[in-house]
Amino acid sequence: MKPEEVVERYSRVFPKAARVTYAPIVGVKAKNAKVWDIEGREYIDFLSDAAVQNVGHNNERVVKAAMEQTQKLIHFTFIYGFPLEPLLLAEKLRDISPIKNAKIIFGHSGSDANDGAIKFARAYTKRRTILSYLRSYYGATYGAMSITGLDFEVRSIVGELSDIHYIPYPNCYRCPFGKEPKTCRMECVSYLKEKFEGEVYADGVAALFAEPIQGDAGMVVPPADYFRKIKRILDEHGILLVVDEVQSGMGRTGKWFAIEHFDVTPDIITIAKPLGGGFPISAVIGREDVMEALPPLGHAFTLSGNAVASRAALAVIEEIEEKDLLKRAERLGKYTKKRLENMKEEHELIGDVRGIGLMLGVDLVKSRETKERACEEARKVVWRAYELGLVLAFLQGNVLRIQPPLTIEKDLLDEGLDRLEQAIADVEEGKVSDEVLKKVQGW
Ligand SMILES: Cc1ncc(COP(=O)(O)O)c(C=O)c1O
Repeated sequence: MKPEEVVERYSRVFPKAARVTYAPIVGVKAKNAKVWDIEGREYIDFLSDAAVQNVGHNNERVVKAAMEQTQKLIHFTFIYGFPLEPLLLAEKLRDISPIKNAKIIFGHSGSDANDGAIKFARAYTKRRTILSYLRSYYGATYGAMSITGLDFEVRSIVGELSDIHYIPYPNCYRCPFGKEPKTCRMECVSYLKEKFEGEVYADGVAALFAEPIQGDAGMVVPPADYFRKIKRILDEHGILLVVDEVQSGMGRTGKWFAIEHFDVTPDIITIAKPLGGGFPISAVIGREDVMEALPPLGHAFTLSGNAVASRAALAVIEEIEEKDLLKRAERLGKYTKKRLENMKEEHELIGDVRGIGLMLGVDLVKSRETKERACEEARKVVWRAYELGLVLAFLQGNVLRIQPPLTIEKDLLDEGLDRLEQAIADVEEGKVSDEVLKKVQGW
């Protein structure tokens, strides 16, 4: 079958709400950081299925664990019974979590984990209001969609949860308050205080939801002391801090959880994407008292605690521990960032390079002075990268997403970075035609 035929058949059965596409890659096989398409073309993967494949595609340990478990027991009802696999996984997650003696509940996606966190936070505090961030992404179920700051078009069409308020995320490259590092007075922190003085009754707020690094907003990293300052304000009012580690968690930034870079302990953490190594599984990890606030079946799904997904997740954690992937993510992250910064010296199109560990963003701009987003150029770079055999995507229209598996071989990483630089150079030199703009969608 030709990729064009697959693309055409996709358009007949899948509505546009299900997807945003970047390149017509019909992936049929993958191993670690390599993907092969239906015609046998090989790609280097800088996307990791949107930060899912932290331990690499078809990781041997994950494959073995899932196959053994599949032969033994695919699922035994977690809601009514006592299967072992989710228990072992929950105990392991409790060990690695920065929340002491946490309790844990499982689901299938980052979205449902965030829905759960909304429910736990509201139930525990007996308050309704949720604070969230502009440009945040928490998922597509009703609750997660309602607190998402990025895509409010869907919310406006289908309706949303009430009592949600938004604040600007600290963004030192494109400061929402128009400041530069020299003139910054942490207006992003004082804004929260002002919000409580003039618009939102602080003692009615259940939780602030935050991505420790805003992923889909374009890999935005807050200042080092931002969350400490915010947590102090939240504590004054009994407001919980929920951190969404769906994209940044499980070692991606060189620590189990990205919030650990900011020296605060959250009340609830949500994880999904890389947890199951590609199998659908999510978790809400929270303070014991918070997690006991809902009644029985307050957040339960028939297939949660699935034995195969739980065993796969245990294998992911073992792999990170045994291969010391936290260190590797930190080391390769620093190396990759340096190489991207060197590219910035050579290519005017690059306005900013940022991120922690292997959660990196390359912000393409039309002019370094105005920082106008170079959206068409980003689409061309992604298309050219695809032609050169590199799986790449962008966020916010112009920020290239650099998230290879933490296990990527060093020489393959270098080869991928070479292809990326080639793609950027080709776009700068006008070698990629406007025709490709019709083919790349993205968001
Ligand atoms: C930070 C963050 N939270 C939540 C989600 C939603 O996760 P899922 O697509 O598994 O529902 C995503 C997905 O991109 C995400 O990046």
